[in-house]
Amino acid sequence: MKKHFSLNKSCKLYAKALKYLPAGVNSNARLWRNPRFCYVGPGATASIFIKRAYGSHIWDVDDNEYVDYRLGFGPVILGHSYPAVEKAVIKQSQNNGTIYGMNSELELEVAEKFVRAVPCAETARFSSSGTEATLHAIRLARAYTNKKVILKFEGHYHGWQDYLLFSAHPPYTWPERKPYFHSAGVPKEIEKFILVERWNDFESIEKTVRAHHKEIAAIITEPIMGNSGGITPLPGYLKFLRELCDRYDILLIFDEVKTGFRIAFGGAQELYKVEPHIATYAKALGNGYVISAVTGERDIMNFFGVGPGKVTHSGTYNANPVSLAAANATLDELSNKIVYKHLQSYNKRLIDGIKKIGSEAGLPLQILGVSGMFQIFYDRRPIHNYVDLRNSIKEFYVKVQYELLREGVMIDADNQECIYTSYSHNEKDLKKTLDAFKNAIEKASKTEYHVTPFSQIAD
Ligand SMILES: Cc1ncc(COP(=O)(O)O)c(C=O)c1O
Repeated sequence: MKKHFSLNKSCKLYAKALKYLPAGVNSNARLWRNPRFCYVGPGATASIFIKRAYGSHIWDVDDNEYVDYRLGFGPVILGHSYPAVEKAVIKQSQNNGTIYGMNSELELEVAEKFVRAVPCAETARFSSSGTEATLHAIRLARAYTNKKVILKFEGHYHGWQDYLLFSAHPPYTWPERKPYFHSAGVPKEIEKFILVERWNDFESIEKTVRAHHKEIAAIITEPIMGNSGGITPLPGYLKFLRELCDRYDILLIFDEVKTGFRIAFGGAQELYKVEPHIATYAKALGNGYVISAVTGERDIMNFFGVGPGKVTHSGTYNANPVSLAAANATLDELSNKIVYKHLQSYNKRLIDGIKKIGSEAGLPLQILGVSGMFQIFYDRRPIHNYVDLRNSIKEFYVKVQYELLREGVMIDADNQECIYTSYSHNEKDLKKTLDAFKNAIEKASKTEYHVTPFSQIAD
């Protein structure tokens, strides 16, 4: 018999979490704080408490089992607790130690595999989080070009560091191109080091670069807007960015923290056949273990080092042996073409199925993104940048997301986050997801919910 859906234990634990953790979480991004969830669902938990995850499934403390399409915000490319990765990790931690503070052959093995996989990579430096990687990337670009300003785009997130924590998701009324500060504590003065542009807007970007190229060290971009529902680049757009950078002695940084090893073995660079000067990686590189990388052309990367004019890159946990063991096994698995073949086939059938159900229900449905990371929008108007996304209709998404949870399928409460798939998602998951989707849109269309209009949700 189908279990009654309840989040009672999560609600209770969340109340306890508020006693010990500010806002009850250890990352603001884990807070399903918005009325999209709290008002739609019964009870008012702002976070679901997870008990375990295995393969393509995740279980919460109320014993609800879900097909997991969040995958920890994207890292889990092979599946949770994937045997080959766990075997390598256990071997490392049980027999060979967890930290050395010295070089090891393992880091050379991983570096060699990584450099072979990533088109722009000639050398690489490993650290722990995506934020560290983007921080090092812009420091490197500033040192190499001897310029200070970074041009970034609205709707792009590059981690929580001060220099880039602008305009990832500005609120509804915020004027375009005006840097939006996402956090208190970031000095107002650093605004002068940032320019914000509209993505996919060839003309406007070229105009800004022409006017400011003497100050711009780098343009940093997610090659697919992984933090804005998977908006893809217009034809020729990434090539245009590269050529613009070359023309004005600016470095192009691809932040492949989400796309890397997820949408193709060589990431967006491979898919779109455009190489940046520098790239950052994390998430899928370790199938969920803590590892990131900054990589690029040798003469740029050679700025890392010791002494005058050199760029500092250090960290107790950089190239940690346990993470390296995970990355080593992950890269071995991913180098087998079967993995991406499976992902492509699964994604195609999932997306085709969703479109078919949507069309039969007469919904104005469109899918943004690519195989491995995509999102469903109930709005047919074209979405090419953050403002298009901000103005798109979201209310139906929230209702369907809630009904999907009840049906045992977990996607994020926020449609700016993508739906991710892994190598472990199988035929049973596909059928369950499509059946759940059909039921969810039926219920969401019929039920009266109290959803706060998105334009009224404060950041
Ligand atoms: C594109 C992108 N860059 C950087 C980051 C920051 O990575 P981390 O959370 O590992 O610091 C994220 C996190 O989601 C991201 O999506």
